[in-house]
Amino acid sequence: MTIIDGKKVSEEIQNEIAAEVQKIKSAGKKIPHLAAILVGNDGASETYVGGKVKACEKVGFVSTLVRMPDITSEKELLDKIAELNNDKDIDGFIVQLPLPKHINEQKVTEAIDPKKDVDGFHPANVGRMALNLPTYLPATPYGIIQLLERYKIETAGKNCVVIGRSHIVGLPMSILMVRNSNPGNCTVTITHSKTKNLKELCLQADIIIAALGKAEFLTADHVKQGAVIIDVGITRVKSDKTKTGWKLLGDVKYDEVAPKCSFITPVPGGVGPMTITSLMMNTLKACRREIY
Ligand code: GUN
Repeated sequence: MTIIDGKKVSEEIQNEIAAEVQKIKSAGKKIPHLAAILVGNDGASETYVGGKVKACEKVGFVSTLVRMPDITSEKELLDKIAELNNDKDIDGFIVQLPLPKHINEQKVTEAIDPKKDVDGFHPANVGRMALNLPTYLPATPYGIIQLLERYKIETAGKNCVVIGRSHIVGLPMSILMVRNSNPGNCTVTITHSKTKNLKELCLQADIIIAALGKAEFLTADHVKQGAVIIDVGITRVKSDKTKTGWKLLGDVKYDEVAPKCSFITPVPGGVGPMTITSLMMNTLKACRREIY
């Protein structure tokens, strides 16, 4: 059994990006510039955006954090998006989700210029992804693809079960695994809360991607010997065994599932560290005009 070290791969890729930025600087070309809009002060969003800004510093990108108060109107946010769309110095930007309830997230997502949509959430980019055209891939699925690639995990012809159909992870992941590419070329089954025979489907799977957000949901009796397990879940639970008083759990009951696997991602340190790195990869592509 191999534990997939997302922290290590993430550091490797960030070092590669940093080396590219050095080359860009030496050639006197424009340095990649990522902007993030954060509306309100949701604790988790603050942490995520903080991590993104830090990663920019680490790889040598320019970053801009645009903070807007909770009471920001939809119109004010759309105006800010229009401003960033037209700002020649900004290569790509994201609007951190979730947004306050009075703002329509879909409208906001569609207001972002697809050329600058480094989250890959715009319908135009989701469509391009489905058609296997060059595009920005959403961060978590892109990170998982990188892990499968760097660990040389065979995917062609394999049965892949994706648990969860969220627009950020499950749905794009299932599209990427079915595409005619490598990694890809799987026979994919997308499962969700209404799926009746989940356990039987999982037992047929060579690769399981668990992205439903339920701590330790996937137990050993769902998993066939030698399967590849990708755990996307991160649930914070109370713990009296840690200094902080809490710990992170994945969607997979790691201790009992790991011995049955050929490869498994741990939580923390598996998929998680890859997501911000994927955003850095997309920003570099945006600056190089590789997609559009
Ligand atoms: N909220 C949770 N994940 C993400 C993400 O990948 N991008 C944005 N913009 N918001 C998020």
